Amino acid sequence: MKTGLQKREENMTFLKSVPLLKNLPSEKLAKIADVLEYDFFHENEYIIREGAAGDMFFILNKGEVKVTQMIAGQSDPKEVRRLKRGDYFGEKALLSEDRRTANVIALPPGVECLTVDRDAFTQLIGDLNELHNKDYGDEARGAERNSLSRAHGL
Ligand code: CMP
Repeated sequence: MKTGLQKREENMTFLKSVPLLKNLPSEKLAKIADVLEYDFFHENEYIIREGAAGDMFFILNKGEVKVTQMIAGQSDPKEVRRLKRGDYFGEKALLSEDRRTANVIALPPGVECLTVDRDAFTQLIGDLNELHNKDYGDEARGAERNSLSRAHGL
C-alpha cells in the first residue's frame, strides 16, 4: 500500500514526463498533482461522447484510446487518431465551453487516466499555448457535427 506522499511523488514524476506540461514550473505541477483524480475505463468504454457537454480534462496514464468522429456524408464515426501514455484529450470543450468534438474510446485491456476538473484546468493548464494552437483539422467537420448535435437534442 502506497502512502499519500509516495503517490504524490509518483504523480509529479509522471506529470513532468507529459510533453504538454514539461515547461510548467514545479509549483504548478505540484498543484496539479494535488487536485488530480484517477479514473479507470474498461475496454470499448466511451470516455467521451461526441456532442455531449464536458467538464473534465484527461491525461492518459495507462493504456491506449482511439478518437473517432462523425464525418459529413458517412453514417458511422471514423477513427481519426490513437493516443497513448502521456497524451491528453478533452481540452476542447473546456477551452470553448462547447460540446465534445469527438468520441474517445478505451482500447483493450482498458485505460487509466488522470483527470482534472474544469476549474483546476482553467487555473493551471488552460492558458498553455500548445492547447490554443492545436489544430486537429476538425473545423471542416464542425458544421456536420453541430447539425448532428441539434438533431440529437444535445
Ligand atoms: P473535446 O472536444 O473536449 O473532447 C473530445 C476530444 O478528442 C477533444 O477535446 C480533443 O482532445 C480530442 N480530439 C478531437 N479531435 C481530434 C482529432 N482529430 N485527433 C485527435 N484528437 C482529437
